Amino acid sequence: MIQKKLEVTYRPFDKATRVPSGTTLFSAAHWIGLPIDSTCGGRGTCGKCKVQVIEGAKEVTIADRKELTAAELEAGWRLSCQAKVYQDTICLVPQLLRVPKAATMGVNRLVLLDPNVRKAYVELAEPSLEDQRSDVERLQDALTAEGHDMKADLAVLSTLPTVLRAAGFKVTAVLGGDQLISVEPGDTRDESYGVAFDLGTTTLVGTLMNLRTGMAEAVRSTLNGQAPFGADVISRISHAMSGSAALAELQAAVLATMNGILRELYEMAGVSRDRVYETVIVGNATMLHLLLGIDPAPIGVVPFTPAFRDPLYLPAREIGLEIHENGRIQTLPILGAYVGADIVGGIVATGLAREEKLRVFVDVGTNGEIAVGSSRRLLATAAPAGPAFEGSQIKCGMRATEGAIEGVTLTAGRVELQVIGGDVAPTGICGSGLVDIVAQLRVVGLVDASGKMKSREEAPEHPLSDCLIVVDGVRAFLLADGIYLTQRDIRELQFAKGSIATGIKVLMDILGVTAADLDEVLLGGSFGSYLNPESAKIIGLVPAVDVDRILSVGNTAGEGAKMTLLSFRERQVAFELPAAIEYVELSGRTDFNDSFVSVLGFPELGAVA
Ligand code: FES
Repeated sequence: MIQKKLEVTYRPFDKATRVPSGTTLFSAAHWIGLPIDSTCGGRGTCGKCKVQVIEGAKEVTIADRKELTAAELEAGWRLSCQAKVYQDTICLVPQLLRVPKAATMGVNRLVLLDPNVRKAYVELAEPSLEDQRSDVERLQDALTAEGHDMKADLAVLSTLPTVLRAAGFKVTAVLGGDQLISVEPGDTRDESYGVAFDLGTTTLVGTLMNLRTGMAEAVRSTLNGQAPFGADVISRISHAMSGSAALAELQAAVLATMNGILRELYEMAGVSRDRVYETVIVGNATMLHLLLGIDPAPIGVVPFTPAFRDPLYLPAREIGLEIHENGRIQTLPILGAYVGADIVGGIVATGLAREEKLRVFVDVGTNGEIAVGSSRRLLATAAPAGPAFEGSQIKCGMRATEGAIEGVTLTAGRVELQVIGGDVAPTGICGSGLVDIVAQLRVVGLVDASGKMKSREEAPEHPLSDCLIVVDGVRAFLLADGIYLTQRDIRELQFAKGSIATGIKVLMDILGVTAADLDEVLLGGSFGSYLNPESAKIIGLVPAVDVDRILSVGNTAGEGAKMTLLSFRERQVAFELPAAIEYVELSGRTDFNDSFVSVLGFPELGAVA
């Protein structure tokens, strides 16, 4: 269903935007680069975001009554962070964030440095017989005066009497949203850090971010410690199903990897664990379940239901993650069993749900996650691609590590290889190499549109005919000593690309658009980013658009995690995505099965030129 958009105009800037019903005036302003001032993170407690509504959204909220005077209410003043738009609206913005610090992140997205973690230095009045407020009330009153709401759990409450007195009641309060994380002696506002984690099935990447400057202080990536329990999510789920000890084993393995990364990050950047207050974690649904020690079994069987989809904000100590002992973990929302928080991060990083451009975004891997659409309507799905793109079930296949052939060019009689590691002897073919080889064989006419490879007898005059060999009775193409591509490998690739291409086609059909309507195709994820766009197009993995419109966009999941760590406004955008995206389940759809058969072959070369 296409949501009806409403028009919001901001004066005196005369900037207007069209937003879905229910968007706040505060969020909509952020989307069009008018950052309205705030110190409370849009919680309705600082009063800084007030705007005068001239026409439209005028409902009065409880927060409005608390923060604004009766005269202001009467004159149409409202807190923009609470004012939701249900009709076209015109408002006057008296005050924008004065010196917005911003950085370009993700796919050309300007991100405001406005983290959820805030530090406030306060000098509290010392208690006396005339002022017997409790320690926490004293702190709360001071923070309220600065526009911060605050709630404290036992972990921080228990530190208050000692810290306040030892520091002469001059302290820095650390807030994660309205949650009091820590109270530190003196002024520590200069030191504030968080970690963005991309929890991949294969690889984990952690980035230590300076929340004051928005800069990455250190990055570390390593293989997921769950690897011995299987390479893909299905084998991890199967292991978890063997009992609670197995589930605990998987949780311990990923935590050990994450804590190892954290320790290295602290060492590399010279940052103390006590100054790292929050971590944003993205990952697929299974990875998030395993990290939190939640049984992922129902994700693996029909009707594929995760235990949770909403974003979670919880103490890191509950699972033993080694950041500040009272620090918090934030997960991004999950759309469905196979479209996880990593894709939500990717959609934030690409701005897919906020721009008018019609785009296809694909994260190619064992599971191809796909989103198609624009700010008008956005659909997402997951297509099971199998392990071919990871180099598995390919005769000479391997992961993308040193020695893997990652690129191939076939020129008159010559095979030119690009090998990871540069000047090393090739030892196998990784996913991007596989796509390249098959595309090149199509171009030089040694593989036909049905995927059939020519034999030496069928192409005796071809300059590359010497490379056409037979291995164990199967046709193959020789790339280097002992390394070749077989006819069966091509079939494996056809199934993998066919599944993803079908997923894209089903979503485009639902939207009623064709390749000619697309503005861009974005290839993301650890594998997709390394794909040669032209090869992806030649094999029909992506729709037939001009090659310069097919863009490699890198690790968008990790970028999304960083953006939501640095900006509570971006985090809010991520939280709102599930309501804005239609999740399409491919299993059981007849159009999926029909299209799948039709896209197994390769496009005619004329169609992709
Ligand atoms: S009241 Fe603080 S942002 Fe609205």
